[in-house]
Amino acid sequence: MLIALGVTGGIGAYKAVEVARGLQKRGHDVVAVMTPAATRFVGPVTFEAITRRRVITDQFEAGANADIEHIALASTIDLLLIAPATANIIGKLANGLADDFLSTLYTATRAPLLLAPSMNTQMFAHEAVRRNLDTLAARGVRFVEPGEGYLACGWIGKGRLAEPDEIVAAADAILRPAGPLRGRRILITAGPTLEDFDPVRFIGNRSSGRMGYAIAAEAARRGADVTLVTGPTSLEAPAVREVVKVRGAVEMHQAVMSRAGDMQIVVMAAAVADYTPVERADRKVPKGRDTLTLTLKRTPDILGDLGRQRLARGGGPLLVGFAAETEDVVAHAAAKREAKHADLIVANDVSRADAGFDVETNAVTIVGPDGAEPIPLQSKARIAAEILNRVERLLVTRSAEAGHHV
Ligand code: CTP
Repeated sequence: MLIALGVTGGIGAYKAVEVARGLQKRGHDVVAVMTPAATRFVGPVTFEAITRRRVITDQFEAGANADIEHIALASTIDLLLIAPATANIIGKLANGLADDFLSTLYTATRAPLLLAPSMNTQMFAHEAVRRNLDTLAARGVRFVEPGEGYLACGWIGKGRLAEPDEIVAAADAILRPAGPLRGRRILITAGPTLEDFDPVRFIGNRSSGRMGYAIAAEAARRGADVTLVTGPTSLEAPAVREVVKVRGAVEMHQAVMSRAGDMQIVVMAAAVADYTPVERADRKVPKGRDTLTLTLKRTPDILGDLGRQRLARGGGPLLVGFAAETEDVVAHAAAKREAKHADLIVANDVSRADAGFDVETNAVTIVGPDGAEPIPLQSKARIAAEILNRVERLLVTRSAEAGHHV
């Protein structure tokens, strides 16, 4: 979705940089529109570097009117967000004044408007400002209320720009119709686990974490409340509620089991080590002999434990597991689904070079209660969306069934 981020001349203008980043993290495209006053608080280059688009700062700039830019932009944006919105822009919008690019864009667009006002407490309480806000509210404009707190002018009271996270969430909520994942608590594991056998050496695997991170990002985009439990990876964590970094399988087991009770969905995309060294030396193991023997023991099966727990309690989170197979993919995945009491198993055919571990793309077969469905080779982001579509379908079926029982 394309969002025009209007930035006006308030002390909170610097927070708009975080807002732009947050919107991008949720997969939106952002074009920044700054009033001349805003450019005195933050440089346009900052927004340009972040949005990777030209920043619009002046209506009468050479070239800006070649394709009547405010009209062109007005018809392509999905949302106009103004953060911070000063008393001045609020007054202009309420009264239809259009003397700069931003106010002109507002009158020209039919996209929804979201305002994050920010001003001194006394100004916010002024009757003229209140009336303008009421006028805009009656017109269907939405607001992210300013926070209370210490203001730059020394006053303590209402008027401080809302926090960037809150503004981003409000923008996202307007753009995304509520789907079954909205507000659901989902835990996703990702990456490898590394099993140490001395202070510098470990046994690991080639998982990059991309598949799990893509699912976490997509779930957040759909409004889910996401906890990401991740083994060591080189990826930047998506903007989610909680990121728990772990190293070994035992630590991951503990991190997942202690949180699973609060979850409505658990997706085990991590490549958890099945074995870990029996002993971990305190000092680096010196070389000497021609051979070295390590004795390994089984790690706890996290997905298996979740499945057993759910069976014993007669309820629990919806469970999604992954399976790495090289042959008889569907039969093996179906057997794993039964054995682990999971709802869905996403089977990777790891014998292909272009799918599975440590590559950008994947091709999977999703095995669920209604059989197996092949998902052809595509980006891990698209595969994540396909997996979550199946999860949403199951959530809907389950709540319909629960409804019948009542
Ligand atoms: N898993 C887990 N805890 C483990 C090992 C695996 O939760 N100790 C999870 C993985 O995250 C994955 C699924 O279980 O979701 C994989 O099941 P697993 O039985 O380990 O199958 P494979 O790794 O595919 O291998 P194998 O066929 O050798 O059992």
